Amino acid sequence: MSEKDFDDIPSLSRRTFLEACAAVPLAGAVIPDKAFAQTADAEGILGTGAATGSSDVASCDVLIIGSGGAGLRAAVYAMRTANLSVLVVSKTMPSRSATCMAEGGINGVVQYQGQKDSLESHAFDTVKGSDYLGDQDCIDYFVEKASEAIRETDFWGMPYSRAKDGRVDQRFMAGHQYPRTNYSADKTGHAILHTNFDYALGSGVKFLVDHQLLDVAVEDGVCAGAVLRNIKTGEIKPVRARAVILAAGGYTRIFWTRTSTPYIATGDGTAAALRAGLPFKDPEMLQFHPTGVVHGGVLITEAARGEGGYLLNAKGERFMERYAPGKMELAPRDITARAIETEIAQGRGIGDGMEAHVLIDLRHLGREKILERLPQIRHVGLMFENVDLVEQPLPIRPTAHYSMGGIDVIDFHTMATAIPGLFAAGECGCESIHGANRLGGNSLAAAMVTGKEAGIGAATYAAKAGFAGETALQRLTEQWRDHFRETTARTKGTNFVELRDRMAQVLWEGMGIFRTEKGLAQAAEALRQIHQEYRVATVGNSAPVYNTAYTHYIEVGNMLSLARCAVLAALNRRESRGAHTRVDFPQRNDKDFLHHSLVRLKGDEYVLDQRPVTIVRYKPEERKY
Ligand code: FUM
Repeated sequence: MSEKDFDDIPSLSRRTFLEACAAVPLAGAVIPDKAFAQTADAEGILGTGAATGSSDVASCDVLIIGSGGAGLRAAVYAMRTANLSVLVVSKTMPSRSATCMAEGGINGVVQYQGQKDSLESHAFDTVKGSDYLGDQDCIDYFVEKASEAIRETDFWGMPYSRAKDGRVDQRFMAGHQYPRTNYSADKTGHAILHTNFDYALGSGVKFLVDHQLLDVAVEDGVCAGAVLRNIKTGEIKPVRARAVILAAGGYTRIFWTRTSTPYIATGDGTAAALRAGLPFKDPEMLQFHPTGVVHGGVLITEAARGEGGYLLNAKGERFMERYAPGKMELAPRDITARAIETEIAQGRGIGDGMEAHVLIDLRHLGREKILERLPQIRHVGLMFENVDLVEQPLPIRPTAHYSMGGIDVIDFHTMATAIPGLFAAGECGCESIHGANRLGGNSLAAAMVTGKEAGIGAATYAAKAGFAGETALQRLTEQWRDHFRETTARTKGTNFVELRDRMAQVLWEGMGIFRTEKGLAQAAEALRQIHQEYRVATVGNSAPVYNTAYTHYIEVGNMLSLARCAVLAALNRRESRGAHTRVDFPQRNDKDFLHHSLVRLKGDEYVLDQRPVTIVRYKPEERKY
């Protein structure tokens, strides 16, 4: 513990922040300038004029899009790295990202005395879990930094659940050889998000909430800033930045009706990066978590199985015996999700259609343990299924959960992309740690590790870089203003919400847990048509103020674009690997497909390329559990 650590104790309270946000609409309200920027050009928040060499464009040094675990962590570390202005932009309040919905825990080897676990075991499990698509140099770095992140967040005040001797307790999650998942009951994401949020507030980070990213601007090959839209007022404004970090989360909402992620997980950052010219890496690698509630897909944490829960079919059999006899319910997610869907497809599920399900049974854990370690999922079971899992087994089915793919990151030490000044972190970026299948608990760890590296990387870059020119930024801003006027003025055409629902159905049918050439080809064609209709679809509201229909119209466009990339890559990956299961090509094929998929946007076309996986220590071998 150094003196500097004490300097970091937050000086601005969460209460002050919340009051500032609540006070914004009140006439004459005073906004504490340390915490909250009402608009992009609020005086004292963002520099303009002389500071940027421009007369009226707002600016900051490091602009972070997204306020989940990765974005907040990046913000703290950007502030610590250099004396710069750091602005976090978010569609919602910072506490409402997908991070706060992560439940089971955060992986990191802490090597308490007497424990057998090691960084090497964590690395090996991650490589094997990824079905050998993860880059091994990156994974080695990740496990080392994840271990540091546990100690650091513990010091920051993260309310970890404790063992009797006071150390941070660790539980099993699927696909791991040792219990290395550190946790806070089953609310770990919520706890880690708020730990980082407190630190960000106390570090002088500025927040701009209720703002939507429209595009990232690139001038002469260098990142110049972003175009933002104020969801409250409808204003569309450019913000110049020396460096931009995209930490806007994943895109699993493409499946819309059954996903464990929030409504905001629409891939806005990834889609903006794609439009800015960057490749989208491994878009076909979408994870289905085995256990979501049947109605809506809200997560029932893997920790429920880590603590000893059983999966049962309609006959009351623990069917995992057939699929992963060595690991049973603790087989990795891809294997367990396929097992559940197979049970349902072969008539051993309960119910039909979208209601079909199997059961998770926790009754034998006992009330006390459930209330202490899994209180959140008990609550979720009661709310969504009217089932108290202390008394009854809970209906569950796989739910779209995580995007292993994301913006192509070319340096995992800094999280830099190929565009100087543009960085990516968290689920939004692909370094690649998770490859074709992420292990439970590695997502919060990745958010902490990649967020920190991106914060340091971007601030180090920004401290030396000037502002890029603003021509592209101004042009994009004008284009978006025209887009709002033209799009919302339409009165004829399909409403875009209908197109969103069609997209989700096409994806469930053609690019769900089981995929075939025919199904994917049909999905590709259907999405192309839906995308065409989208471009002339109606929004239904032309008012600028709180036009949430337009907000969502943009999100649906982003999702359509990303879904088309995913289907293209899935169609071309004629093998089964991790979460990507091709019924027509059931084997993994390292000879032809041990590579990352890279999809770029060229004009209106999506173009597929590839890059070899980095293998260091672990030769690909058959993946058995
Ligand atoms: O099941 C879970 O608690 C999810 C954790 C994760 O995705 O890492």
